[in-house]
Amino acid sequence: MGHIKFHLGYFTKFGATSWPGDGKEFGSNWIDGSYHKELARMLEAAKFDFILFEDTTIVGDRYAGSMELDLKNATLAPKLDPLPLLPLMAQDTSHIGLIATASTTFYPPYLLARLLSTVDSLTGGRAGWNMVTSSEKNAALNFGMDKLLPPTVRYDIADEYVDLVKQLWDSWEEGALVANTETGVYVDHTKVHTIDFVGEHFRSRGPLNTVRSPQGYPVFAQAGASERGRAFSSKNAEVVLGMMTGGVPGMKAYREDIRNRAEAQGRNPDDIKVVFLTPVNILPEGVEQQEMTDAEKQASFEHNIVMASSSLDVDFSLYDLDGPVPQDIVAGGHTSALDHMKKAGREEGKSLRDLFSMGQGASGMDFSGTPQQIAEKMMAVMDEVGGDGFLIEGSGYNRQLPQLVDELIPALQQAGAVRTEYTGTTLREILREF
Ligand SMILES: Cc1cc2nc3c(=O)[nH]c(=O)nc-3n(C[C@H](O)[C@H](O)[C@H](O)COP(=O)(O)O)c2cc1C
Repeated sequence: MGHIKFHLGYFTKFGATSWPGDGKEFGSNWIDGSYHKELARMLEAAKFDFILFEDTTIVGDRYAGSMELDLKNATLAPKLDPLPLLPLMAQDTSHIGLIATASTTFYPPYLLARLLSTVDSLTGGRAGWNMVTSSEKNAALNFGMDKLLPPTVRYDIADEYVDLVKQLWDSWEEGALVANTETGVYVDHTKVHTIDFVGEHFRSRGPLNTVRSPQGYPVFAQAGASERGRAFSSKNAEVVLGMMTGGVPGMKAYREDIRNRAEAQGRNPDDIKVVFLTPVNILPEGVEQQEMTDAEKQASFEHNIVMASSSLDVDFSLYDLDGPVPQDIVAGGHTSALDHMKKAGREEGKSLRDLFSMGQGASGMDFSGTPQQIAEKMMAVMDEVGGDGFLIEGSGYNRQLPQLVDELIPALQQAGAVRTEYTGTTLREILREF
């Protein structure tokens, strides 16, 4: 029996992905963009659908009120702004999609609409936007706000935001740019319109002063996990980023839920690709598990505690790391993630140290082994879930990139599970090929 054909994205950051290392490793030269250009070439050769860049706008100091652990391990910072780097990566490639994260809480909508329109033009229609509402208090402080509004309110604002930026992108009709030498008209002014948007949170007159970009709109990506997040995602997103928590049944239920919600809003569910974030852990033949050195274990622990402290908005230095997870922790950020942790403490006796030592891929599902073994596991999971693909965790996994693109992806290709060519030109066309 043939396998379900699925999509592949690569999830990473515009920062130091090779740390800890010796400074000579692939990925060390990220500051001038050369690493990311090379990354784009490699992933395009392997026929990935897209690369997706995460983003936050902080240096993390929620843990113990200090930036030390974040900066020491290059966890959240330092990094580059993803948006200017997409066109740079597009220069050396021709098909791979380039998706950047940008927050609806911080970007003025007109500026973001103009920027993404520009990036879509510069990449020849390969741009995507990962829509986030942000969850770090420090980010709010960086933009002159005392704190973030509650998540549901942030999503209400984001809904209006998306409505507004779409109108701005539509303020230039298809074919407005005529460049007619006979009439001397460059742009047909009857095809460019003000939008006179007046919402609850935003106002904008328009039109944009860019041209209509190849895709019109960038491809919309989003990761809604909460009820309100899913409502937002199913209304707006074309690429939905899912987590593998809950194993195959959880993945299946999540995908079904997003598809049903989309259909109820009059959308074609097949226009939405749900891709599940996963690390893959490529091991030599006969090796069950790669032993980490003590230094690697410590770096991984520190990395995880910094990430969790900032996204959950909890100072974990105030809690006992070694007893069962304290049940009285209060999150300012992602409460559902904290609930999972508390449950692991109550039901499995796990400590915070256990949870933060579990490594980046603590999803409960294990894609580790030889490239052939991993390929088989990935195909088996996708066949059961029903679609639509995986978002492979890249940050921190540089060392295995050569084997990923030279062995694992070819194994999937030989089995007919992933693409061997691009037939579309724009990212939206490529995503809708199957
Ligand atoms: C794969 C994946 C990537 C994400 N990337 C970012 C990111 O780059 N920046 C960010 O602020 N949030 C990011 N998030 C968080 C989501 O935007 C969202 O807040 C989270 O999935 C929780 O869903 P909820 O907002 O519905 O509670 C990501 C989530 C997932 C699953």
